[in-house]
Amino acid sequence: MKILVTGTAGFIGYHLLNYLLKRGDEVIGIDCINDYYDINVKYGRLDRSGIQKKELEYGKLIQSTIQKNYKFIQLNLEDKENLEKLFKEEKFDKVCNLAAQAGVRYSLTNPDAYIQSNIVGFLNILECCRHYKIKHLAYASSSSVYGLNKSQPFSTSDDVSHPISLYAASKKSNELMAHTYSHLYDIPTTGLRFFTVYGPWGRPDMALFLFTKAILEGKSIDVFNHGEMQRDFTYVDDIVEGVVRVIDNPPKGVKEENMNPSNSTAPYKVYNIGNNNPVKLMDFIEAIEKKIGKVAKKNMLPLQAGDVPSTYADVSDLIEDLDYKPEISIEEGIDKFVDWYVDFFKVKL
Ligand SMILES: NC(=O)c1ccc[n+]([C@@H]2O[C@H](COP(=O)([O-])OP(=O)(O)OC[C@H]3O[C@@H](n4cnc5c(N)ncnc54)[C@H](O)[C@@H]3O)[C@@H](O)[C@H]2O)c1
Repeated sequence: MKILVTGTAGFIGYHLLNYLLKRGDEVIGIDCINDYYDINVKYGRLDRSGIQKKELEYGKLIQSTIQKNYKFIQLNLEDKENLEKLFKEEKFDKVCNLAAQAGVRYSLTNPDAYIQSNIVGFLNILECCRHYKIKHLAYASSSSVYGLNKSQPFSTSDDVSHPISLYAASKKSNELMAHTYSHLYDIPTTGLRFFTVYGPWGRPDMALFLFTKAILEGKSIDVFNHGEMQRDFTYVDDIVEGVVRVIDNPPKGVKEENMNPSNSTAPYKVYNIGNNNPVKLMDFIEAIEKKIGKVAKKNMLPLQAGDVPSTYADVSDLIEDLDYKPEISIEEGIDKFVDWYVDFFKVKL
């Protein structure tokens, strides 16, 4: 199968790429390699997939030096002309769109980036899927779409009309846009609401990375909502396993009487991919402290605008439809992350 994966210089895209190549798929990766966070982590991921920094040139398709089934192109999703050219020439079977401007807090200060990458860019992906007869588009949504929802665990059949950040609004918009294309053009689309993903090669703007770095450097960590937070942390391998099962199983429409917000008479579906086991922020910090062998200096702060105090995924659809539920424990996941961190940044534990 030939798959386009966008965001392969990014955290989840890099791991998904490895999985798909391992099982024998042919993959073309796209990423604009923006500098939202330490770009060396992105170059590091590219390097590990056989794409060297010195070879990169905007719009040039590069053959991986170590994976015969992998080519990479540095491209902006907003660049409709070049994106269309790529779809026309490469004839993909399926698309997995992970490229996006991520991050809740950054969306308060840089709203434009979210409209460009997540709305304009996503529209271009949809248009290409329409014109080049893509068999399935899977795309990243986010647990942040649950916004002001109070009932937990969060279910995909809940109404999600109350996002509290532009990031969340852009992800909810993607689901609405996808539904429209599934309905109008019969394109199977599946949205994946990821719940706080972590693991090796993780994002430098996220809690695990920030905490690990600060603790190792003897600096203090910011603990929001005075520690009264919980997150359904999901290990990246668990996420990737779920994403692949989703890619392999395009949705079919349901009967009108069975419709709920997660499905449709059109070939449209939305899944939660979360651990289904929320962890208290203070327990999360304690697990990192234990692994590193050092107690964190804590800077207790109020809840940040745009943040929700708690996330908890109902994954019953994932279990029912795809026979799958994430299961890596937080201790195991933190262990693997810290081992990667000290190796990549050449620091001592
Ligand atoms: N990591 C999480 O906990 C989490 C949670 C919920 C949702 N998500 C979503 O999952 C997806 C992957 O997240 P990630 O953690 O790997 O983030 P990431 O930032 O590491 O990866 C995204 C990649 O997309 C690229 N990109 C951004 N805008 C682009 C554009 N306009 N054109 C081309 N490339 C562009 C970036 O350079 C980056 O490498 C994103 O859509 C994100 O919103 C992630």
